Amino acid sequence: MKNDYAAEPYRIKAVEPIKKTTRDKRETLLENAGYNPFALKSEDVYIDLLTDSGTGAMSDRQWGALMQGDEAYAGSKSFFRLEGVVQHITQYKYFIPTHQGRGAEQVALPYFVKKEGMAFISNMHFDTTRAHVELTGARAIDCVIEECFDTSTYHPFKGNFDLKKLRRIIEERGAENIAGIITTITNNSSGGQPVSLENQMAVRNIADEYNIPLIIDGARHAENAYFIKQREKGYEDESVLNITRKQLALGDIFLMSAKKDGLVNMGGVIAIKDDEALYEYCRTRIVPLEGFPTYGGMSGRDMEAMAVGLEEALDEEYLRHRIDQVRYLGDRLRKAGVPIQYPTGGHAVFVDCKAIAPHIPYHQFPAQSVVNALYLETGVRAVEIGSFLLGRDPDTKENLQSPLEFMRLTIPRRTYTYKHLDVVAEGVVKVYQNRDKLRGLTFTYEPPVLRHFTAKLKPL
Ligand code: F0G
Repeated sequence: MKNDYAAEPYRIKAVEPIKKTTRDKRETLLENAGYNPFALKSEDVYIDLLTDSGTGAMSDRQWGALMQGDEAYAGSKSFFRLEGVVQHITQYKYFIPTHQGRGAEQVALPYFVKKEGMAFISNMHFDTTRAHVELTGARAIDCVIEECFDTSTYHPFKGNFDLKKLRRIIEERGAENIAGIITTITNNSSGGQPVSLENQMAVRNIADEYNIPLIIDGARHAENAYFIKQREKGYEDESVLNITRKQLALGDIFLMSAKKDGLVNMGGVIAIKDDEALYEYCRTRIVPLEGFPTYGGMSGRDMEAMAVGLEEALDEEYLRHRIDQVRYLGDRLRKAGVPIQYPTGGHAVFVDCKAIAPHIPYHQFPAQSVVNALYLETGVRAVEIGSFLLGRDPDTKENLQSPLEFMRLTIPRRTYTYKHLDVVAEGVVKVYQNRDKLRGLTFTYEPPVLRHFTAKLKPL
């Protein structure tokens, strides 16, 4: 383990106080929240590692840019500025803004579903992507390499597609039944794990061979590009911008939640390489779903901030510190024996709760139990990425068993310090030391879709 974690490449111009609560208070707060931290008020959270989505800090340049927002309904100056930046980075022809990533998904994904019985194949679908795939009537199939499920063994690109399996699924289902291949960079659900450029290129070749469209879910494309620069032979001396362009050159359409590597609190991207019919489809559909194509769910000022943020996210000093913070937290936990997805990924440390609480079966949500214990211990809010989130089989309605049961400690961008991460690490280690006391959970209320956001639970 290297101890050379980069210091902050910024100084702090505005601060937002956060407050501690007592353990007694947290017991009541968590019970009232139905043992689901999504229902907690953020003011009752000391360090909030629920997500890195829209929770980062904007730079002084971004705050300055806000004043230049042009709020015209049609043809806003801010749209054209943002379009220029998106085209500069993606080198794609067409751009439409959306209110966030799932806005892009709902507008674009139905285009690819031409008939009944189709499926999308992804290294791993993020949960909203899966939901939008299923809303089109298609099925979502994950196809990540086996190494990803072995949390303790190092692999530089645990987000990679299993290429043999990809081919096998296409052959078995028939290429005409595959709506699209979705490359998720980084692969959020397996631990913010990167996908190598070599693997992305091989996926493109397979897509070409079978004439299947390739969709890039690039919420964290800059973090993925940084890992390629760090870990993949031949890219050490390339700029992150160039690597990102090489990644995106492999896609037909780029969907992005700008709340991550767009460094904004709200926003999304649909960028289309050159398919005019696809562009016309999205441009027509965006109007009733999101808004007129030159704002698509964003205010002019937010488009200005995003134009700056998309470029700042490719700054290599920024990325080094960002990835080092995540690695720092991971190293601290590993040193104390806490099992995590190793190596750590781009945006979060994923704690392996199957290993921590083997006595809790998947349908009693072991990782949710660890998340709750951590909140009680230190007031840190993490999130479950496991069987609770995965939900039920759309056909049989049975609880699905996630191959991995994670507690995700998600680090917001430019927001917390290494000292905050020490507090988190100490809390997780305490929970780990008392792991025998962890108990499973059962539903008192379960909504039909995306249940983890609003479900209520109670300990068994
Ligand atoms: N794709 C990926 C890979 C994501 O991680 C997310 C969101 C989305 C799409 C959807 O974007 O939230 O802007 O609508 N991930 C967040 C998370 C919510 O916490 O990981 P959105």
